[in-house]
Amino acid sequence: MRTRILEILRNSPEEYLSGEEISNQLSVSRTAIWKQMQTLKQAGYDIEAHPRRGYRLKNLPDLLLPYEIRDIVTTKKLGKVEIYYSAEIDSTNNEAKKQANLGCPEGVIVLSEGQNGGRGRLSRNWFSPTGKGIYLSVVLRPPFNPYDAPKCTLLAAVAVTKAIRSITGVECGIKWPNDILYQGKKIVGILTEMSAEFDAINHVVIGMGINVNIKEQDFPAELVDIATSLSIIVGHDISRLTLLNAILVELEQAYDCVIQQGFSEMLNEWRELSVTLGEKVTVYGSGKEFSGKAVDIDNDGALLVETEGVLERVLAGDVSISRKYDCR
Ligand code: BTN
Repeated sequence: MRTRILEILRNSPEEYLSGEEISNQLSVSRTAIWKQMQTLKQAGYDIEAHPRRGYRLKNLPDLLLPYEIRDIVTTKKLGKVEIYYSAEIDSTNNEAKKQANLGCPEGVIVLSEGQNGGRGRLSRNWFSPTGKGIYLSVVLRPPFNPYDAPKCTLLAAVAVTKAIRSITGVECGIKWPNDILYQGKKIVGILTEMSAEFDAINHVVIGMGINVNIKEQDFPAELVDIATSLSIIVGHDISRLTLLNAILVELEQAYDCVIQQGFSEMLNEWRELSVTLGEKVTVYGSGKEFSGKAVDIDNDGALLVETEGVLERVLAGDVSISRKYDCR
């Protein structure tokens, strides 16, 4: 009923609609309408209730509310099943893992306006100011071997990069394995977590943090030089709902393609969008630290780094790129 009420209010943005009018349209009591209006207001909708004229939707909220998402999302599965939404959460990945362990279906998404315990790779924190980013976790149950699961991260990086490019025109690129950068500064981080048996995946949770409308002054001092946001780059705020839809659409397409045809097409797209390949890199966190030229990724998604004539295969850890470059 709430979705229908929102539809009615949205169709008459300038007008007041009386409780009686709405209750007649929906064949429910005026008290039922009043109760639903309270719930919608609590959820964040700016609904004006005038004692004589009735109800009016004053502004459409820039919130990632499930009603709004369901209204616009053009996927077949992702975000079409359950959406878990909150104003504030510790980490959307934690909630997604909880739901996955409880047996939720593939395609469930978890979204929050802000996170107070956002987690990054390598035990780092993820800066998650309220209402200014997209903090999204997607539950997948891929039919492939656990060995292939790390490639879900590469797949997500390709999907988000394509979505950002198409919605904002920002020519960002991927730093191995899954940071999305613009002119050397990070705009997206991806954290993939998996639960698996020896030969089968129970679930994969892909968590993405996207710096959408964060302002320069919002970033803590330690991030100012290494992170940026889409609104800083383009000079105006971006609709998080529109970007979210594009991300879900790209992710679903990439995932379906991998399931039907394998990983090779996606790995090629990753290579195209990479800002790491061809660069001098330093590799950290894989037991030893070394520098060399990033020449390719192999079929497992490992980074191939040429150092003193030897090709090193890097499966985990982090790399830094030694010179500043423009994203391709
Ligand atoms: C990284 O670059 O280190 C990965 C950052 C991943 C952050 C996202 S925000 C949504 C999801 N929930 C989390 O706690 N982490 C991921």
